[in-house]
Amino acid sequence: VEAALKDGPLKGKHVLVTSGPTHEPIDPVRYIANRSSGAQGTAIARALSALGAEVTFVTGPADVPPPEGVHVVKVQSALEMLDAVENALPADAGVFAAAVADWRVASASDSKIKKDGKGSLPVLEFSENPDILKMVSQMGKGRPALVVGFAAETDDVIANATTKRKRKGCDWIVANDVSPDTGIMGGAENAVTLISEDGAEDWPRMSKDEVARALAARIAAALEK
Ligand code: CTP
Ligand code: CA
Repeated sequence: VEAALKDGPLKGKHVLVTSGPTHEPIDPVRYIANRSSGAQGTAIARALSALGAEVTFVTGPADVPPPEGVHVVKVQSALEMLDAVENALPADAGVFAAAVADWRVASASDSKIKKDGKGSLPVLEFSENPDILKMVSQMGKGRPALVVGFAAETDDVIANATTKRKRKGCDWIVANDVSPDTGIMGGAENAVTLISEDGAEDWPRMSKDEVARALAARIAAALEK
């Protein structure tokens, strides 16, 4: 693809990016999902590509279109996303920006669930979805040299994200406060803290595109080492 021919600090590097929500089917017409526009993940994929990376962009059903010049793999559910990620490896770096649904409906119905006219309510049973970021972070051979996760939190952002980084085994966590009063969810701006083994670094509030460019530059610097 054209990105592979582009010059830049990430030329010759393959970077995998997950983005968007996942949709977990209940029946052929209904699903449960996480709230995610896919804007930040899309901006990151675009910024990595602009630095010359070959990008595989694994995306759930997002509101924004995928960037040009990247290899797009469209998925619906978390299980499909895991499959696509496994197929995309090996990669030099992985950025896991997707808002993966933590649970799927244990046995989705093949036919539309109908009201019975007597007010009976359906009961849904759930299964936990695989943790894609954790799986990639903890794979031995073939692990990307740099694994970056996200943590969208509403409370104790830094503490929760720091714990999350250790629990999952990723190198960096991009943490953000998604409390409704921040206006970040669904908005054009983001205020993130980059958490690594060196500690927590607060970045100023800026556009999602600027966050993406700053992160891509950091990734390029890390891979050069
Ligand atoms: N993630 C993933 N697969 C999952 C769940 C999460 O790859 N099944 C990734 C996300 O893409 C993100 C990171 O893990 O990069 C953190 O997601 P988050 O939902 O904040 O963490 P969880 O471990 O699911 O914890 P919780 O939702 O309980 O806070
Ligand atoms: Ca989660």
